[in-house]
Amino acid sequence: MSDDPFAQLKAVQREAWAVFAPLEVVTTMPAAELVRYARVSPQHSVLDVGCGTGVVAVTAARLGARASGVDLAPALIERAHKNAALADVEVDFREGDVEALPYAAASFDIVLSQYGHMFAPRPEVAIAEMLRVLKPGGTIAFSTWPPEHFVGQMFALVGKYQPPPPGAAPPPQWGDPNIVRQRLGDAVSDITFDRSVLRFPALSPQHYRKVMEETLGPVVKMVQIFKAMSQS
Ligand SMILES: C[S@@+](CC[C@H](N)C(=O)[O-])C[C@H]1O[C@@H](n2cnc3c(N)ncnc32)[C@H](O)[C@@H]1O
Repeated sequence: MSDDPFAQLKAVQREAWAVFAPLEVVTTMPAAELVRYARVSPQHSVLDVGCGTGVVAVTAARLGARASGVDLAPALIERAHKNAALADVEVDFREGDVEALPYAAASFDIVLSQYGHMFAPRPEVAIAEMLRVLKPGGTIAFSTWPPEHFVGQMFALVGKYQPPPPGAAPPPQWGDPNIVRQRLGDAVSDITFDRSVLRFPALSPQHYRKVMEETLGPVVKMVQIFKAMSQS
């Protein structure tokens, strides 16, 4: 039996995120921005946490880095392997949890996460794990959504109908620079922030909504809850 108090939440997340693959067309462009921001280059070993279909890891590998990726959802890891094969790069993809990373201490020069580690229920455990596998003097960099912007607001709506279980932090908190500073504390010597624009190709707002309701795990779950409520 698992001693993880959030094992059940993670089992639900693992299943909910399984349908995320079509959204890789949206997350591919910011992946390039994150890799550039973290100054990934061929001499680096890089970990992509919450890698999904591997857009960040594959981008880093295409630059010549030794890339690894880890994600909760096996269906996405399967797709990530296919993405690496198609791009003709080698990436060590593994199924795993950011709160218990399957790597030895000080394994990576750079640890990245694009909209990934933010979904772990215990930010302090997730960040401690990401720092544990980082080499001393290495770089940790992640992309999240500011809580006051559109995607942040969408997750606030999700949180209203599916509040995180007691003891779990709401994911949008990771988009607040003050909270990020607190969570990283003295563990890092230097912090920089940047903002960019996430573009989402959609024919109409209704198309956007349909894609979200079919592919973004927490929104998929929220819609299932609405349907169950309307049938009861
Ligand atoms: C919004 S998707 C981002 C995927 C990918 N990084 C991208 O940019 O396309 C969030 C990802 O975080 C993963 N995830 C959620 N909780 C996780 C956890 N505790 N450990 C590892 N991965 C997790 C999900 O399975 C999902 O693939």
